[in-house]
Amino acid sequence: MSFDLKTYLAGIADQGRALHLRHVNHQLVKVLQVTGFEKDYTHAEGCWLFDAEGRRYLDFLSGFGVFALGRNHPVVKRALKDAIDMDLPNLVQFERHPLAGALAARLAAKAGGGLEKVFLTNSGAESIEGAIKFARAATKRAKILAATHAFHGLTTGALSLNGSADFKEGFGPLLPGVKILPFGDADAFVSEISKGDVAAVVLEVIQGKGVHLAAEGFFEAVGESCRRHGTVLVIDEVQTGLGRTGRFFSFEHYGIRPDIVTVSKALSGGFVPVGAIIMRPEIHRAVYSSLERAVVHSSTFSQNLLAMVAGLATLSVIEEEGLVEQAEATGRLLMERLSNLTERYELFKEVRGKGLMIGLVFGEPSTWWLKSKFAVLELAHKGLFSQMVVSPLFTRHGVITQVAGNRMNVVKILPPLVAGQEEVDYFLGALEEVLSDLHRRSLGLFGLGGRFVKAALSRPR
Ligand SMILES: Cc1ncc(COP(=O)(O)O)c(C=O)c1O
Repeated sequence: MSFDLKTYLAGIADQGRALHLRHVNHQLVKVLQVTGFEKDYTHAEGCWLFDAEGRRYLDFLSGFGVFALGRNHPVVKRALKDAIDMDLPNLVQFERHPLAGALAARLAAKAGGGLEKVFLTNSGAESIEGAIKFARAATKRAKILAATHAFHGLTTGALSLNGSADFKEGFGPLLPGVKILPFGDADAFVSEISKGDVAAVVLEVIQGKGVHLAAEGFFEAVGESCRRHGTVLVIDEVQTGLGRTGRFFSFEHYGIRPDIVTVSKALSGGFVPVGAIIMRPEIHRAVYSSLERAVVHSSTFSQNLLAMVAGLATLSVIEEEGLVEQAEATGRLLMERLSNLTERYELFKEVRGKGLMIGLVFGEPSTWWLKSKFAVLELAHKGLFSQMVVSPLFTRHGVITQVAGNRMNVVKILPPLVAGQEEVDYFLGALEEVLSDLHRRSLGLFGLGGRFVKAALSRPR
């Protein structure tokens, strides 16, 4: 055998750092070093990652929301192994394979509300790019509205809808005709939509950056205005879809009736990139309007059979294991116990989110000596305190979480939907130790701040 993966990987196992420094992303390697996240994992199962010494790490990041089923779920593994062993006729292109049709049908059934047509994609950003094109074609209008803090991916069109300047800097000019309005400000959206020239409003129901929820009535008002003025309402479920928030789609929490829904991430089962644009048939017809336009919007790997299998197997596991209901129940338990901690630790201000998409909000304390420690960090770099929680959670307790966005003191957790009592208890125990250390009068974990301040202030090379 010319290529043996096990031997090959064993041969390069200690070269990850050097290879990435030289050929991939040297700045990310530095970030991993500063935050203490640099680690060689050797295998993974369910909610846990393992290193060569057999130490385990609790994954409350889920690959930014990919691992709804946990890692290496046996049903998806089996399905993919079967698909490979069957020597399926993949990517013939001039074809209509039933597996692609079946995945489209399952997604359409889940979305309901007449969203019968599906374009299959390879990622979240590609789903958003497609949604922009479909909406423009259907309305013959150019303008797109998005929200502050929004994150829809980083390809050029999706980046144009990004709600923060940090990601956009240096990449302009971006798509013309995009307006970013305050998330939750129904009046601002309605007044713009009623001008009658808006192709689409693109919104996350719960925003990934910062875990923001909109004010009561916002989605209802925007949806009503879209219907009245012929604007396409695009709900981006790339992160929130497939049970993450305790409903299959997060729009179900608000009774929203979208015209287009985008998905990706969890649909992959954590194995093969896949996504979808689920839409009303009339929007689809506007693009595929004649024989000549049969492939006017297409993508080489769109119907990759391994991706179709991963998607179908994932949907089947979500249903069979009742993961949407489990996410809702586990989420409720976690939010309740986290809320109790906000009463005991003054730096911990608020818990927000739904299901297993939860933001832990930190902020200025009132005790003077805590206040001054907090202020020094905030002065060096706004939002730096959240790193004081995320880093020790990992380095001391092996729990992987993330800072929810730039310049905000919000720590985000996205546990796999299969997380249960053991994982919840482990996480809360670890968090409580970190919080109690941070609230001590001695320097304690605040001592880490020096390292972060130095890194934050160092000029980019
Ligand atoms: C809501 C949302 N939309 C789109 C994307 C982009 O997805 P991808 O990274 O697969 O392009 C993301 C990624 O985090 C997301 O959270």
